[in-house]
Amino acid sequence: MNPIERSSQADFVGDLLKKCRSGHGGAVLVTGAEGQGKTEFLNHVAAFGEEYGALTLAASCSRLERGIPLGALGQLLSWTRLPADLRDDATALIRAGRDAAQCPPVGSLEPVDVPPELLEGFQRILARLTEHTPVIVKVDDVHDIDRVSLQFLVYAMRRLHSVPLLMLLAERENAPPAPSIWSAEPLRQGHLHRLRLTPLSRAGVEQLLLRADPRLDPGLSADIHRVSGGNPLLVHALIADQHAAPGRVDGAVTVGPHYQEAVTTLLHRVEPALTRTVQGLALLPSLASATLLDRLLEVPAGTSAQALTTLHEVGLVHAGEFRHPQIRAALLADLAGQGFPPKTRTAHPGWDGAEAGLGSAPYDGGPGQDGSPGRAGAVDTACGVGALSDAERRVAELAARGHTNREISRKLFITVSTVEQHLTRAYRKLGVTDRRGLPDDLEGDELMAL
Ligand SMILES: Nc1ncnc2c1ncn2[C@@H]1O[C@H](COP(=O)(O)OP(=O)(O)O)[C@@H](O)[C@H]1O
Ligand SMILES: [Mg+2]
Repeated sequence: MNPIERSSQADFVGDLLKKCRSGHGGAVLVTGAEGQGKTEFLNHVAAFGEEYGALTLAASCSRLERGIPLGALGQLLSWTRLPADLRDDATALIRAGRDAAQCPPVGSLEPVDVPPELLEGFQRILARLTEHTPVIVKVDDVHDIDRVSLQFLVYAMRRLHSVPLLMLLAERENAPPAPSIWSAEPLRQGHLHRLRLTPLSRAGVEQLLLRADPRLDPGLSADIHRVSGGNPLLVHALIADQHAAPGRVDGAVTVGPHYQEAVTTLLHRVEPALTRTVQGLALLPSLASATLLDRLLEVPAGTSAQALTTLHEVGLVHAGEFRHPQIRAALLADLAGQGFPPKTRTAHPGWDGAEAGLGSAPYDGGPGQDGSPGRAGAVDTACGVGALSDAERRVAELAARGHTNREISRKLFITVSTVEQHLTRAYRKLGVTDRRGLPDDLEGDELMAL
């Protein structure tokens, strides 16, 4: 299905695809905050290209693999339909590249020394693939690319004028403190077109709401737009919350566990260097005092402002306030397991109350974008064993059986912090304050095997 409010950007890419068919390549850098639909857009336009006969080499970069030389290039060349002789060339290329080049420290913009014959080797593979059909090279989350692969991409990018190849790259906006990988040459040479994905409008949110379920009240779209800031990830979560809470007060938007989970997802995608500061913001009585946090956390001046901007861009902060009380609650839940300095914990007089009230904060209309006061109490939150997600139930069951958080984390292959988040939500839904209050009858089949 077509992504909503992205048709002008899709048309732009469509035009580049047409040029590809006449032998001229191009490159597009799709930017936007987390959850704004970069992956969705890339997949959509690549699928469109494939319908018209292009073939796609794809890679998805990850923070954990930034230091693995040629990790991204290896993904691109692992295309299963690569002809056998090219597969051998690709394997040899990756092996030689890993022997020849190392990744510099994360954040360094020093160019990596890659032997020219290896760069040419990649060009030869691309040239063979483009002999009969245009090729799309799709790299998602390119801000996390290993620097050796980047060198290959940039080399290929400089030769696009004569190759029917379309590079589709997605980069998280505001990825700093790491400097943008494109601050060097390619942009200046005009090879790279930037497409910025902005939040959905109120009308776009309504369209998404009706597409998801025509029975939902379109009148909810104003509140959903306000709570989500138009971030499609948050909009989808809020729609799921409406489904999970039938019989709510008429006209009231339910802000529940799906939304809270989406907030946590967004938080975990923030650059690690900002995570602690983002969580620290939740401890402040008011975001207006954000700049105090730099000194309190002993982070470089400006880090808190950066964290605030990031939260603003993903749609969690508006007009200097969190868009919904559950955002603060989700950040605090995340923080609860991370050994924050005690002096910071006590900086927020509402710490205990905020923690105890996780997930139960009603939506009062939030900070009205028009400056109007929020609307009072229109939320319900699912509770009881039936309201537990599978993950929460699994964690709660092990906790009820006396396992420590660390043991649970090892058994379920999740971090201790995630265990704590699941437990916090499970306590809230079950109306208990600690593991001693958990019921015995949560058991699931798969737990028996653990
Ligand atoms: N324009 C859109 N219309 C409808 N749904 C969208 C749109 N953009 C994104 N989505 C949905 O929102 C969620 C987040 O999108 P995603 O592409 O993962 O964001 P990003 O890659 O920018 O973090 C996904 O479930 C996606 O399907
Ligand atoms: Mg993505």
